[in-house]
Amino acid sequence: MSKPFVFVTRQVPEVSLTALKEMAEVEVWPEKETPVPREILLKKAEKAVGLYTMLTDSIDEELLNRAANLKVIANLAVGFDNIDVDMASEKGIAVCNTPEVLSDTTADLTFALLMATSRRIVEAAQYIKEGKWNNWAPLLLAGTDIHHKTIGILGMGRIGSAVAKRATGFEMEILYHNRSHNEKAEKELGATFVSFDELIERSDYVVCLAPMTDDTKDLFTYDVFEKMKRSAIFINASRGGIVVEEDLIKALKEEKIAGAGLDVFRQEPITTDHPLLSLSNVVALPHIGSASIETRLAMAALASRNIVNVIKGDRPEAIVNG
Ligand code: DGY
Repeated sequence: MSKPFVFVTRQVPEVSLTALKEMAEVEVWPEKETPVPREILLKKAEKAVGLYTMLTDSIDEELLNRAANLKVIANLAVGFDNIDVDMASEKGIAVCNTPEVLSDTTADLTFALLMATSRRIVEAAQYIKEGKWNNWAPLLLAGTDIHHKTIGILGMGRIGSAVAKRATGFEMEILYHNRSHNEKAEKELGATFVSFDELIERSDYVVCLAPMTDDTKDLFTYDVFEKMKRSAIFINASRGGIVVEEDLIKALKEEKIAGAGLDVFRQEPITTDHPLLSLSNVVALPHIGSASIETRLAMAALASRNIVNVIKGDRPEAIVNG
């Protein structure tokens, strides 16, 4: 009997594919950074039992209608807004992701971004490299404090809680807004549930970690930024589509808020002429939230196990529609 066909849409660590290769015919799109062209993905999907996907692959109605043999989609990410989950569910296809293994790493990056933005670390590093450092001066590259300030976390899930935990080390007041109360975060981290309006009005750091859904898409508009403190710093380590970027640019230019640290953008990758990159109070990163070697290996292994589980007829470790 022939082995089930699994298509992997990007080069992933070879070691993560060992078990999968024993039970499946595995084809890997041989590129590290370039996504598989749509036409090829559609062709591969037609015969695939498993698709091992990246957040850059659109797994939409057109693809799912052509994927007659598909049983599992394993996304190499905790987010899965690139997949039409409802449609996959209708067709009985398991949609899997990689939660837990990336929470601490993504929280580390989120906090690093917050610190880099508030203490102007990127600007300062550039300053010294450009030979501009002439002398010590009282207010040279002075940023704003982190300790004892108020952090407002939108999305108190696993990553939000891990960010809150880091904030306790800085003795910050922790506010959060979420679909539901997170009693553990309230009890163990002293986090306080507030309305979205209270969160944006009271926080010194507004940190977006909510998943992108119909409810959160385009949530951060000019009106929202205008309600924030003028000294507020906005951090987004979730999905770019939650922010109306023109509105953020306007708010930053008009000094309605003090700065922004962004790991994600509406259209990725952004190009060097993107208006956000021209603002000195913006720290921009190329979507590297979970990008540590240890974590990417763990994510790759989990994505692979998710496919192995489904092919074996077992329940996958991380399924979003089961
Ligand atoms: C995720 O897992 O959704 C991240 O955005 C990828 O780092």
